[in-house]
Amino acid sequence: MGSTLTIKDLHVSIDGKEILKGVNLEIKGGEIHAVMGPNGTGKSTLSSAIMGHPKYEITSGSITLDGEDVLEMEVDERARAGLFLAMQYPSEISGVTNADFLRSAINSRRKEGEEISLMKFIRTMDKSMELLEMDPNMAQRYLNEGFSGGEKKRNEILQLTMLEPKIAILDEIDSGLDIDALKVVSNGINNMRGDDFGCLIITHYQRLLNYITPDHVHVMMAGRVVKSGGPELAHRLEAEGYDWIKQELGIEDETVEA
Ligand SMILES: Nc1ncnc2c1ncn2[C@@H]1O[C@H](COP(=O)(O)OP(=O)(O)O)[C@@H](O)[C@H]1O
Ligand SMILES: [Mg+2]
Repeated sequence: MGSTLTIKDLHVSIDGKEILKGVNLEIKGGEIHAVMGPNGTGKSTLSSAIMGHPKYEITSGSITLDGEDVLEMEVDERARAGLFLAMQYPSEISGVTNADFLRSAINSRRKEGEEISLMKFIRTMDKSMELLEMDPNMAQRYLNEGFSGGEKKRNEILQLTMLEPKIAILDEIDSGLDIDALKVVSNGINNMRGDDFGCLIITHYQRLLNYITPDHVHVMMAGRVVKSGGPELAHRLEAEGYDWIKQELGIEDETVEA
């Protein structure tokens, strides 16, 4: 049985300024959701709030995972509960190799005495890197240090496939990728599909959704989900842009500044 992430009437402020103004979303195992929207509409704020970034203050509303209050959990508890966030701008950590980072991330999600063996870890990592067409040397390089944009994104997907979270939030995983890298990254995500995996893909381009067909598409404007639909909604956005939604809903300024 898959997990369910439920976001209800979520309001989030940064430095006293309200950015999210009542977001409602439900992501279940087996489902892929896309959140689309122009820049500055609150998409990254949503992903940071779900993962518990300290700068983002939840002023009201709730986030639960299978009924458990996510907002009460520390960041590492959220990860252990099965949430995964691929950030729009992944951090560089000098002195920690990619392999060491991944192995401790996997083990921190396991009970004492049930840690992954070094052999099994290496085998799984080699296999995953091959699938993602990554240079084997990347395992021993410091985390994200000097990685190109595309290497960072592939590396986020490497973490995703190895950590096997219940719910993943992928923020602009497609930005800066050439078409080959886009296909590789999409394959990685498609391979995760299954009842035990739910995914929220945040993007402002439709092109990623040519390779990953979402079950649900949501449009964010001015800090709210203003429209939801199926994959056809993404195709209409690709063809017509966002203006028709603004007109239909009488939104003058789509950014949260409004
Ligand atoms: N850490 C931050 N500090 C101050 N303002 C922020 C921060 N993060 C986001 N904002 C503001 O929140 C608004 C929404 O940003 P963001 O969530 O990044 O939008 P999107 O991802 O849709 O482009 C913007 O006006 C942005 O300036
Ligand atoms: Mg963003």
